[in-house]
Amino acid sequence: MPTGTMEIDRSSCLDWFRRNRRRSEEIFASVRPEAYYDRPIALRNPICFYEGHLPAFGVNTLLRRGLGEPGIDPGFETLFERGIDPEDESHVPGGSGNGWPERREIRSYADQADRRIAQAITAGDIARADNPVLSGGLALFTVLEHEPMHQETLAYMWHRLPYERKIRPAAAPAPDPGGAPPPRATVRVPAGRATLGAARGAILFGWDNEFPLRVEEVPAFEVDVHDVTNGDYLEFVEAGGYGREDFWDEEGWRWRVEQDVAFPAFWEKEGGRWLWRGMWERVPLPEAWPVYVSHAEASAYARWRGVRLPTEAEFQRAAYGTPDGRERRHPWGDDAPDATRGNFDFLRSDPAPVGSFPRGASAWGVQDLVGNGWEWTSSVFAGFPGFEPMPSYPVYSSDFFDGKHFVLKGASPVTAKELLRPTFRNWFRGNYPYVYATFRCVKDSA
Ligand code: AVJ
Ligand code: FE
Repeated sequence: MPTGTMEIDRSSCLDWFRRNRRRSEEIFASVRPEAYYDRPIALRNPICFYEGHLPAFGVNTLLRRGLGEPGIDPGFETLFERGIDPEDESHVPGGSGNGWPERREIRSYADQADRRIAQAITAGDIARADNPVLSGGLALFTVLEHEPMHQETLAYMWHRLPYERKIRPAAAPAPDPGGAPPPRATVRVPAGRATLGAARGAILFGWDNEFPLRVEEVPAFEVDVHDVTNGDYLEFVEAGGYGREDFWDEEGWRWRVEQDVAFPAFWEKEGGRWLWRGMWERVPLPEAWPVYVSHAEASAYARWRGVRLPTEAEFQRAAYGTPDGRERRHPWGDDAPDATRGNFDFLRSDPAPVGSFPRGASAWGVQDLVGNGWEWTSSVFAGFPGFEPMPSYPVYSSDFFDGKHFVLKGASPVTAKELLRPTFRNWFRGNYPYVYATFRCVKDSA
């Protein structure tokens, strides 16, 4: 009898798998067919790639690497294997449609993959303790969490598409611009411990970069109650912040100059008026929304204000720490995430005004730490001491330990609730301006 299958609830995994697939289908249905080979972000693969990548990743990870079964189509399993880093433009087939398969071939591959994966979840030997790829359901959870991460990729890619190449879903809510931003406020978080990683085996699943256990002692600091808003950031833009090299670090400044960046990628200027480029429409810049910017822009703003970005440990302490020293599962406590706790899990495609979710505040009264935009930290992405690549997907993190990627914490409007856990770490290049990433500032405290 196979060991280790007991902990895995096959029917809830199958449910999750189907929910993932359905949501991806809805996301793909929101681009017009003629945009299928578009490449809305020059440095990422075209749209069609991701419709093949999601099923191929399941086949490669669970069926082939895990269960040792044959795949479905070796050509597709190579073509759609990987495509994640913004600076990885090599070996991408060229052309608009040329070099890429027809959509109907990709869809037919996906249908076969879905059937095979559902079959494996239902009856396969998916938690064999004697196989490191399968043990504890590792490969299955790798596949189940991979899909919602890419749904976020797809959302920020779609965000760049011209509106006439998208189809607004009937259910998409109108953006809520809110009113004036709340007054800027900070709270003091006293010195204490922050747990950043988990001990192996302590959580049902985590990506390799979440292990092993890592605890840091964090000195006292003052932290912004709210994310930096468009209104706040506008002051920096209007003060000429994009022309002041002294506020920028060297790499950030080079990027700013080379790309001629003069304001955030989510902003547009029309006849002297600032607009926000939303997912489905442009709106007058909502001053109360968190600003979405690159790490370079966030750092420049912080330097201008005489403050700094939080470290990963400071974020963790602000989000999950409590005055009595215990740490919480979520900023608000141990209750499961729901729509009253923050802007996440695809309920909206755009931000909400900062401070809209007081029921999501942390023990210190810090708002919106999880949801409404990933939060940049000053911490360079690296493995915790004792890091080991995961057997189900060994290149997941280690390829990005290059000193150029920074850790982001929290969640965005399009981060699935299944990914909300204290140890989850996101990362992007410091000059990547397209993600749903905001920030808040901190400073040392006596
Ligand atoms: C963790 C969001 C940075 O999209 O580059 C998807 C996730 N890795 N497929 C990315 C990922 C492989 C990754 N991020
Ligand atoms: Fe991927």
